[in-house]
Amino acid sequence: MSTTPIKNVEYGLEKIFEGAQDFLPLLGTDYVEFYVGNAKQSAHFYKTAFGFQSLAYAGLETGMKDRASYVLKQDKIRLVLTTALNSDSPIGEHVKKHGDGVKVIALWVEDATKAFEETTKRGAKAFMAPTVEKDEHGEVVRSGIYTYGETVHMFVERKNYKGVFLPGYQTWKSDYNPTPVGLKFIDHMVGNVGWNQMNTWVKFYEEVMGFVNFLSFDDKQIHTEYSALMSKVMSNGNGRIKFPINEPAEGKKRSQIEEYLDFYEGAGAQHIAVATDDIIKTVTELRARGVEFLSAPPKTYYEEIPARLGAHMKMMKEDISVLEKLAILVDADEEGYLLQIFTKPVEDRPTLFYEIIQRMGAKGFGAGNFKALFESIEREQEKRGTL
Ligand code: FE2
Repeated sequence: MSTTPIKNVEYGLEKIFEGAQDFLPLLGTDYVEFYVGNAKQSAHFYKTAFGFQSLAYAGLETGMKDRASYVLKQDKIRLVLTTALNSDSPIGEHVKKHGDGVKVIALWVEDATKAFEETTKRGAKAFMAPTVEKDEHGEVVRSGIYTYGETVHMFVERKNYKGVFLPGYQTWKSDYNPTPVGLKFIDHMVGNVGWNQMNTWVKFYEEVMGFVNFLSFDDKQIHTEYSALMSKVMSNGNGRIKFPINEPAEGKKRSQIEEYLDFYEGAGAQHIAVATDDIIKTVTELRARGVEFLSAPPKTYYEEIPARLGAHMKMMKEDISVLEKLAILVDADEEGYLLQIFTKPVEDRPTLFYEIIQRMGAKGFGAGNFKALFESIEREQEKRGTL
């Protein structure tokens, strides 16, 4: 596959992946919506621990009868935390089955009606037909389709809207405003799917969404002594949306993907990777605010970094002893290096977690860290009795 950039003149976007059809096309991630048991408390957690800012609110006070939604923002990232206000609610049912988790991965498009038509014509299951929502700030068109599990992609067309988030939401002004920690945008979002389902969803992203598969890892590459998984990375044409898809593989013990599937009770979003341009500062701040990260790999991991980075070592600005102290992982590919770290799950069920990533030219996903990472996850699984 060629990676020669081709100008997509109409939208001013670089087409990075020639094989992608880009019939939607996607301009970026619009928001990620979680269905949670108590949105008010979740919002407090994301503000306090992760440095998100209050942006918008919808609930009883704004005329919303059945739910409350808090919208948080940090640079280009928008999170929506939604909870049910009564027992007769699909939101409550979702939380009962899955625990707190990602319901909607919303994608910003130029034309939400066309995005719905193009994807459903190619076999997508409809979640919401194109719907126009209006208020005094203009109008938004949204439509939605199902992806893996009960997860949904909403297409959001907001070119005729000037309001704070979506019609129906008010500005959320708060007296409590912890400072941001330097999170910039969503780098990628990973989905966990069931046994032998990875290729089904790879095909879905290729055929229904026009994505390309640009990286693959089999269980021979991603394994430890005990467990294994397989992963394929899907991207849209301009490279702004990247969705790796994981499935479990046979190992001596239960893999983290199986653990996820058992506790989420099905396929769903496994982790959200958020980009920073100063991971040392961001992780120092997150740790001070109580965010829990997976434990550091052994000392030998850090001793081997110069050899692993090779020629990229001379462009590395970070002090390896500081990375070790913070348990930040390092990997390199032909184009550069990257720094990354993973949180523990952010809810009681061992399901969704976060990755903090700083790319210094590298386009990969830290394949060189998979073993160290999974061994660290296995130590957590062992404590939970789920290995
Ligand atoms: Fe990742």
